Amino acid sequence: MTTDILEMRGITKTFPGVKALANVNLSVARGEVHAICGENGAGKSTLMKVLSGVYPHGTYNGDIVFENETVEFKDLTDSEAKGIVIIHQELALSPYLSIAENIFLNNELRGRGGLIDWNKTNFEASKLLARVGLRENPTTKIMDIGVGKQQLVEIAKALSKEVKLLILDEPTAALNDEDSDHLLNLILHLKGQGITSIIISHKLNEIKKVADSVTVIRDGKTIETIAKTDVTEDRIIKDMVGRDLEHRYPDHTPHIGEELLRVEDWTAHHPQDTSRVVVDKVNLNVRAGEIVGIAGLMGAGRTEFAMSLFGQSYGSKISGRVFLRGNEIRTRTVAEAIQHGIAYATEDRKTYGLNLIEDIKRNISMASLKKLEKYGLVHDNEEYKVANEYRTSMNIKAPNVLVKTGKLSGGNQQKVVLSKWIYSDPDVLILDEPTRGIDVGAKYEIYSIINRLAAQGKGIIVISSELPELLGISDRVYALSEGRITGELPVAEATPEAMLKLMTMEKPR
Ligand SMILES: Nc1ncnc2c1ncn2[C@@H]1O[C@H](COP(=O)(O)OP(=O)(O)OP(=O)(O)O)[C@@H](O)[C@H]1O
Ligand SMILES: [Mg+2]
Repeated sequence: MTTDILEMRGITKTFPGVKALANVNLSVARGEVHAICGENGAGKSTLMKVLSGVYPHGTYNGDIVFENETVEFKDLTDSEAKGIVIIHQELALSPYLSIAENIFLNNELRGRGGLIDWNKTNFEASKLLARVGLRENPTTKIMDIGVGKQQLVEIAKALSKEVKLLILDEPTAALNDEDSDHLLNLILHLKGQGITSIIISHKLNEIKKVADSVTVIRDGKTIETIAKTDVTEDRIIKDMVGRDLEHRYPDHTPHIGEELLRVEDWTAHHPQDTSRVVVDKVNLNVRAGEIVGIAGLMGAGRTEFAMSLFGQSYGSKISGRVFLRGNEIRTRTVAEAIQHGIAYATEDRKTYGLNLIEDIKRNISMASLKKLEKYGLVHDNEEYKVANEYRTSMNIKAPNVLVKTGKLSGGNQQKVVLSKWIYSDPDVLILDEPTRGIDVGAKYEIYSIINRLAAQGKGIIVISSELPELLGISDRVYALSEGRITGELPVAEATPEAMLKLMTMEKPR
């Protein structure tokens, strides 16, 4: 008998052309919060899919011992029966179903005649919602609540299954600070009730906060497990990338030129509820060679601003004027925006950024097919060559560019999205949360790429929820609150305190 609830020994898992896991060992003590860290593509999600039966016994080598018993799961249901529940990197709730329906999906509460007992379903759901600290009506549809709350619904769903080991794959990647805090506290609260958790995250400060131990994986191998008292960010980073990383942000000396883009009185209304103004008379500009940051809390209207500007792809009630090099332009569609040299790399890579059933090559060329055309056909060799160059320069982890993007790890998908928009060679590039879900080493690469683009004279707008990042890479920052620009500062004056004040400034009422 050991105090470990879980032991994974010598786990090896290969995909065609990729050895995702090579002899990984992982021991998790009963009742602890165990973090797993590693670069994008290191094998973290794969290891958890092996553990939870997504990849069934027989498709990997090695042993899994759970509660002192060797287990050979055939599928997810099998591992759930033992009390192992995984919440995946990409949320899997059904948007059109209610909270309660989602919680009990495939596990419906039925009454005597075999019919679903809705009173009981909603009643039990509200009890579970209370346990995760979510005050929301169980009949509310998933699409009507934010990602932070959806994440809590996922946990409520896990709790409905008498979970012993909860696996969370980057649960806070899409959450703001407040929602992240709530979620992390919930994990600690569940720990108090005896629930063991494994959490995967790229946010090292969070890991320091909640983890009792940290296992670092690099290139499909276990590097080490670090006990809480020995955990430092530097040590994790060194284990992850195999060397010290002295600076988080590359040096950048701006050469700022003429004004490229100017937006005047930009206003957008909510697509469903057009009485709601989500972007309110925004005025801003970007000059050649300049990196401009937009800071704001969740719901400030940053993404809505970017999307409405980019081919008016946010609702239909949009007004304001856009000038490119002083000339007024109209960009009524995404195609028009691209033609005018404006590109937008979205925060939501799954819905808007990538075609997951297409390969890396086509995803990169997708916004620039005109450039690759020869006699009206896409020039295959050229497309292949271009994609390969990006695979190398962006360090996209895949055996070749014919791999479907749906098979890439989360961070590598993000690099494909960035490659696509960089290749489209825009004058103005809007990057929405460009490093979300990206590991520290790759973040540095992406910052370097942003600097390179600025040095070529492009205007860059960066939207990021991570204030240190925004202040680390921008030349000038705007703060957005309730859809309005509440301030604009050169980065030298933009202290975190000054920014937070602007970001929380309310509308005069
Ligand atoms: N279904 C699959 N088919 C082929 N290759 C895959 C598949 N799933 C994962 N891989 C590859 O296995 C490796 C490990 O991927 P995994 O998703 O486990 O990484 P990760 O550590 O979770 O990364 P991230 O931090 O980016 O989420 C990557 O090279 C990935 O491309
Ligand atoms: Mg992953």
